[in-house]
Amino acid sequence: MSKPQIRPATGAQFSRILGVGGYRPVRVIPNAEVLEWIDSSDEWIRTRSGIAERRWAGPEETVAEMSVQAAGKAIAQAGIDPAQIGGVIVATVSHLKQTPAIATEIAQRLGCGTAPAFDISAACAGFGYGLGLADGMIRAGGAEYVLVIGVERLSDLTDQSDRSTAFIFGDGAGAAIVGPSDTPGIGKVIWGSDGSQKDVISQTQAWDTAFAKADAVNGPGDETKWPALRMEGQTVFRWAVWEMAKVAQQALDAAGITADQLGAFIPHQANMRITDAMIKALKLPDSVPVARDISETGNTSAASIPLAMERMLESGEARSGDLALIIGFGAGLVYAAAVVTLP
Ligand SMILES: CC(C)(COP(=O)(O)OP(=O)(O)OC[C@H]1O[C@@H](n2cnc3c(N)ncnc32)[C@H](O)[C@@H]1OP(=O)(O)O)[C@@H](O)C(=O)NCCC(=O)NCCS
Repeated sequence: MSKPQIRPATGAQFSRILGVGGYRPVRVIPNAEVLEWIDSSDEWIRTRSGIAERRWAGPEETVAEMSVQAAGKAIAQAGIDPAQIGGVIVATVSHLKQTPAIATEIAQRLGCGTAPAFDISAACAGFGYGLGLADGMIRAGGAEYVLVIGVERLSDLTDQSDRSTAFIFGDGAGAAIVGPSDTPGIGKVIWGSDGSQKDVISQTQAWDTAFAKADAVNGPGDETKWPALRMEGQTVFRWAVWEMAKVAQQALDAAGITADQLGAFIPHQANMRITDAMIKALKLPDSVPVARDISETGNTSAASIPLAMERMLESGEARSGDLALIIGFGAGLVYAAAVVTLP
């Protein structure tokens, strides 16, 4: 008797982004307000980071709420029913509960039925990681449509007295619907990690350490010690400038696309000077529009690429159907780059 064979799942030949949407919190924090917390200057922040203002979420603008708002726009643009979504991936490092994942609540609120829903922790590479997973799921037959969300409330993890990070981070959400396509719409995702640099951007202490210390000082249940993000800015800066241009080039090569064929360059909005250094290293022609959303949005980690993508499409800087090079990089260290067709 021949061995029974499992029938494999089969999916679409290609996938692409069908819709993108963002949510920006209402409250704008200009540099002038940051100067109330740290010894700095508007000029220093603008010239060293490119940031003029950032948005910080209010109490009602939760990780779930911002995600639902952003996803609603992406779903509308894709023209699908939420019930058709077969996977919800939420990239975030600032959902403050270890479990359950925030993705299940978001899926339920959007009406995605029983779609598998999970969070991923890949910091500023989170959207690219999510896109890589979504592309694989769709082409392997795991889902027809996948919702990828990058969302952060980094204000919750910001130490307002730390002058090396207090001006950088912002809050927001960006979402994309990825679905089947007749033509290739997502190039090979070049992704990776370097755990030897795990400490260069990280939470100051693990939750259990913080709670144990607080308990030791103030008795059980003390809630005053709140871990924040710490970053070795220069180390991250050098790594991003030297290593990430190579990764971006690999994504171009893997997709068979040259820099002059791009309709947009949408790097993670980490620092305007990192963006400028990558443009040089990639020899990007002046004709290619570059995302510079960091100026008004700050660094929103996993949310920064879809937010910047939405802004470029809305402002007409980039057009639907254009090819865009995206690249995310951050705490881990982790990175992900790909060439995609804009929705
Ligand atoms: C954070 C960052 C903007 C700092 O810029 P930098 O040029 O590296 O600044 P440095 O830390 O070398 O400090 C340079 C000087 O500015 C001072 N400085 C640091 N923070 C300052 C602040 N907020 N305001 C004013 N001066 C400041 C330092 O004390 C130092 O002074 P000194 O030369 O007299 O010693 C930059 O390192 C960066 O953007 N790194 C990458 C960040 C990033 O991308 N993070 C997210 C990854 S996802």
